[in-house]
Amino acid sequence: MTQGDTFVINGGKELIGKAEIYGAKNAVLPMLAASLLTDEEVEIKNCPNIADIQSMLILLREVGANVYVSGRNIRVRGQARTCDLSPQIEKVMRSSMFMLGALVSTLGEAKITMPGGCNIGKRPLDIHLAGLERLGAVCEQKDGVVTCHANGLVGNKVFMRYPSVGATENLIMAATLAKGKTTLINCAREPEIVSLVELLRAMGANIVGEGTSVVEIEGVDKLHGASVTPCADRIVAGTYLCALAICGGEICLDGIRKREVAQTLFALGKSVETCDDGVFLRARANGLSKSVGRRSQIYGFDDLSEAVACDLTTGPYPLFATDMQPIISAVKCFSTGIAKVKETVFENRFSHLVEMNKLGANVRISGDEALIFRGDLHAGQMQAKDLRGGAALAVFAMGIAGESRVSGAKFVARGYEDFAKSYRKLGADIRLE
Ligand code: UD1
Repeated sequence: MTQGDTFVINGGKELIGKAEIYGAKNAVLPMLAASLLTDEEVEIKNCPNIADIQSMLILLREVGANVYVSGRNIRVRGQARTCDLSPQIEKVMRSSMFMLGALVSTLGEAKITMPGGCNIGKRPLDIHLAGLERLGAVCEQKDGVVTCHANGLVGNKVFMRYPSVGATENLIMAATLAKGKTTLINCAREPEIVSLVELLRAMGANIVGEGTSVVEIEGVDKLHGASVTPCADRIVAGTYLCALAICGGEICLDGIRKREVAQTLFALGKSVETCDDGVFLRARANGLSKSVGRRSQIYGFDDLSEAVACDLTTGPYPLFATDMQPIISAVKCFSTGIAKVKETVFENRFSHLVEMNKLGANVRISGDEALIFRGDLHAGQMQAKDLRGGAALAVFAMGIAGESRVSGAKFVARGYEDFAKSYRKLGADIRLE
């Protein structure tokens, strides 16, 4: 275990205060790849300071782009001169996959080390590659390396067998400079894709239909510089909301609107209250475990059981986001009702529940379904195995009296800016050790 990789959490504290929400990791990462589509300067504002974005900036510099970081604003200038990327960096994050579309379209070739399986599922690239081949690229996967070559991409109709977020983004990027019209069918519809298209359009791309399942792109000869602000991070905001439902308190989320976290608010039901403009939130009931013994003392009623003991199935947007599943599952462990959670996007996204069971949660997993009953929760040790699972374990421990330890904080740093400090600011007792 490396130093500073364990969250030490003394649970049972209410969360009170204001939290800032920055640009979404999942919008900024493809936007950074899109900046390679022009030799003019692209500026992305309000970026979070997280490990995945740092890794992506290294990849951009490796291919020959100039990258300038000033506070939360990132400026990228210069197209790729090479497609040789360091396999060490590529292996710790999957976003090198976004370089495929931009590199093959501008450089005529792309080479990435196959991201391979990760802790939540196999995550192949077949949809990306099949789509690029429809646009005229020749792709090959051999010994863990993916190579694509093209002598100018040509627009075409592309049907995706599944609405993959990354493949939709890669193919939209590749098609912006292809000759003629591309029609992408069965696209993913996530808000982060809409945000990417806002950048591409500001760069001069001709795109219609983003946010629906059919996106049409009329290729242009050249793209130019632009400056945009990505959509807010609905998963980071949703994590605060779940922590609030578990711990109780009052928080104000700055930088995101109520409709952007509608899915999580719906799943939390009556356990959190929002004000009209959507930034102020209060948990009327909290889910602190019996051992904390404060629930009835503070609020005198139990909204949490009614609110979150409902079934939930993840799926492509607008269905419930798989990235919120581990975190909302943590809330459900505090509910007195029985909840069923079904994970349809990734094959192996329940490892956090196995860890929560070590602290007395009562979760029965069977294939892609988990049945969550109220357990008798106590403090203890858990091991994070992935980014969102790690955040889920941390907010889970915040609701349990006593000292808990969550190792694997490095996974959480991939997507949350100084997680421990942000929650400490709200009154949580959490530190890195
Ligand atoms: C993106 C998000 C990630 C989120 C996921 C699903 C980024 C940087 N990451 O990941 O946080 O969890 O969407 O909302 O935006 N698949 C294939 N073949 C492919 C591509 C995908 O079988 O070529 C499968 C995957 O294995 C997975 C499912 O499709 O089971 C969804 O993956 P996808 O939508 O592509 O997720 P990512 O873009 O990798």
